[in-house]
Amino acid sequence: MTAEAASQNLVDRASRVTRKYQVGGKDIFPNVYLAPMSGVTDISFRRLISRISGGRTGLLVSEFITVEGLTRLNPRICRQMAFAPEERPFTVQIYGGEAERMAWGATMVEEAGAEFVEINCGCPAPKIVRKGGGSGLLRDLDNLKAIIAGVKKAVKIPVTVKVRVGWAEDSINLLETQKVVEGEGAGALVIHGRTRQQGYKGLANWDLIALAKSRATIPVIGNGDILKAEDVIEKLERYGVDGVAVGRGAMHNPWIFNQIADLYEGKAAKEPTLEEHAAIFAMYLELLREEQDIEGRMLGKLKQMGARVLKCLPDCKGARTDVLRSNTINEFFDNLHKLLAGITDYRGRTLEQVRELNGKDANEVVFGTDYRN
Ligand SMILES: Cc1cc2nc3c(=O)[nH]c(=O)nc-3n(C[C@H](O)[C@H](O)[C@H](O)COP(=O)(O)O)c2cc1C
Repeated sequence: MTAEAASQNLVDRASRVTRKYQVGGKDIFPNVYLAPMSGVTDISFRRLISRISGGRTGLLVSEFITVEGLTRLNPRICRQMAFAPEERPFTVQIYGGEAERMAWGATMVEEAGAEFVEINCGCPAPKIVRKGGGSGLLRDLDNLKAIIAGVKKAVKIPVTVKVRVGWAEDSINLLETQKVVEGEGAGALVIHGRTRQQGYKGLANWDLIALAKSRATIPVIGNGDILKAEDVIEKLERYGVDGVAVGRGAMHNPWIFNQIADLYEGKAAKEPTLEEHAAIFAMYLELLREEQDIEGRMLGKLKQMGARVLKCLPDCKGARTDVLRSNTINEFFDNLHKLLAGITDYRGRTLEQVRELNGKDANEVVFGTDYRN
C-alpha cells in the first residue's frame, strides 16, 4: 500500500469507530485524551496539548492530587487543581485511603469548578498504597465502595474511577472492581490494562479491558501502550471501548490528539514537520513562563519533553545528547536548532522504534517520583 493509500485507509477506518461517549450527560468528544501523569501533565503541558490540537481535546485531567494535602490547604497541592479556561471539560483526580477525607477533597474539587472528580485506584507507589490509597484500593474493595459512596454523596458532579486490572497476575479482579464501581454509581471507568505488580513494564492486557467493556453499564476507557494515531483506531476497533487514554505515548507524540481530531474530521493524520518540532518547544516555554519563573525548573521541563520527542527523530543521537545536557534555556534552543538543521532527509518520525517507553537511562527522564516511589 502506498503511503497515500495507507493514510486514506486510516481516515476511512476512523470514520467507522466510536468517537464520543457521555459522562453525566456531557459529551466527551473526541474520545481520546491525555492520561494523568504526575510530574508531567501539569497545567503547562496540558495547555500545550490543547493548543497544538487546536483546542480539540475531549477532556483534560489533572495530575493525581492528595486529599491529605488538599484538605489541609497545602498551597502547592491546592495549586495543582488549577486549570485554564480552555481546559474544558476538566477532571480533577484525587487519591487517598480514607472515605471521609476523599469526600471532603471531592467537595473542594467541585468548588474549584471541575466538571468531574476521579478516584485514583492505580498508583503503585508504596507510600500511597500503605495508606490504602491508589492501587491499594484494589485489595480492599469494601473501602473502595465506601469511598465512591462517600464521594458521590458529597458532590453533585459525576464521579469517575481509574483502576488497574488487579494487584498481581494471580489476583486479577477487574470484574469485581467494575461491579463495585458501577454499583456505586460512577459515571465512567478508566482501565489501565496492567497490574500493580507490573508497574509500567510489559504490555497492557487489552483483552481484559475488552471483557470489562463487554459487561459494562457505564463508559469504559482503555489505557496502555498507545503511541500513534493508528493505535487509537486499532484499540477502538478491536476492543470496543468507548474511549482511550494516552499516557507515555503522548510524551513521544504530543501531536497524537491533533492527529485524531483531524482523522475524526475526515482529514489525514499529518506527521509533524521539523519546524513544528521547533515550534512546540517554543510554545511550551511560553506556557511554562506563564506559570513559573524559575529557569532551572523550566529547563528541566523542556528537557523532559525533549528526551521523548527528540528520540523519534532520525540520526540525531549525538546532537540529542547536547540538547539534553544544555545548561541554560538559550543553550537548549541553540542545540535544538542545530539538531534540527542537521537532519537533511527527514521522512517522518520513527515512533515504531521507541520500544522502551520509559527511557533506557535512569537519568533520561526524571519525573513522577511521587507516583512511582
Ligand atoms: C510518570 C507517570 C506518572 C503517572 N501519574 C499518574 C497519575 O497521577 N494518575 C493516574 O491515574 N495515573 C498516572 N500514571 C499512569 C498513566 O495515567 C497511565 O495509566 C499509564 O502510564 C499507562 O498508560 P501508557 O502505557 O499509555 O503510558 C502515571 C504514569 C507515569 C508514567
